[in-house]
Amino acid sequence: MTAAPRFLVLCASTRPGSLNRRLAETAAHRLESEGAEVRLVDLDDYAVPLYRGGIELVDGIAEGARRFAADLERHDGLVLVSPEYNHSMPGALKNLLDWVSRIKPWPTSEVPALLMSASPGALGGARGLAALRITLASNGMHVLDTEFALPAADRALTGHGFAEPEEDDRLDAAVKALLAAV
Ligand SMILES: Cc1cc2nc3c(=O)[nH]c(=O)nc-3n(C[C@H](O)[C@H](O)[C@H](O)COP(=O)(O)O)c2cc1C
Repeated sequence: MTAAPRFLVLCASTRPGSLNRRLAETAAHRLESEGAEVRLVDLDDYAVPLYRGGIELVDGIAEGARRFAADLERHDGLVLVSPEYNHSMPGALKNLLDWVSRIKPWPTSEVPALLMSASPGALGGARGLAALRITLASNGMHVLDTEFALPAADRALTGHGFAEPEEDDRLDAAVKALLAAV
């Protein structure tokens, strides 16, 4: 019997009532129903100071970034669920990725990543995912072509599912693409 694939699901919002957290939980349940093991984490699990070269010079790589890198290596894949802030990714997420990029070799090159976002807006945070894709790919991460952006997420999310069956189908396709990549 082969071991169940293990996924790290990182939500880049720590806001109480976060739509992205609800989407991350929905994706986690879907992966679990496919037989995967899932660990759901957020940015508070990998707290790091604001990156400055001087801090790295004196103190080395921030401990939260090392922990994130180690967790990535312990899992078969990453699901990164992030809000879009001003057509990009949240600064706190970029900061964590900047820190992790200072670890050589970049620990994520073998780990496929599925990008997801939720927004009350019409594009579901897709522009933020485009920015995130550039940062991750520039560090050699295998970012899946398939991604999942949920528009009108304040109305589209219901419990751990969606108001519209089309969104269920889209999530299934994204989850299956990730499972096929590991
Ligand atoms: C600083 C900031 C910038 C935002 N910029 C965008 C944006 O560019 N596009 C968008 O669709 N929503 C934007 N939003 C709205 C977020 O999508 C919305 O607040 C969402 O609920 C945040 O995710 P969360 O619920 O998981 O915390 C922004 C919100 C904040 C706080």
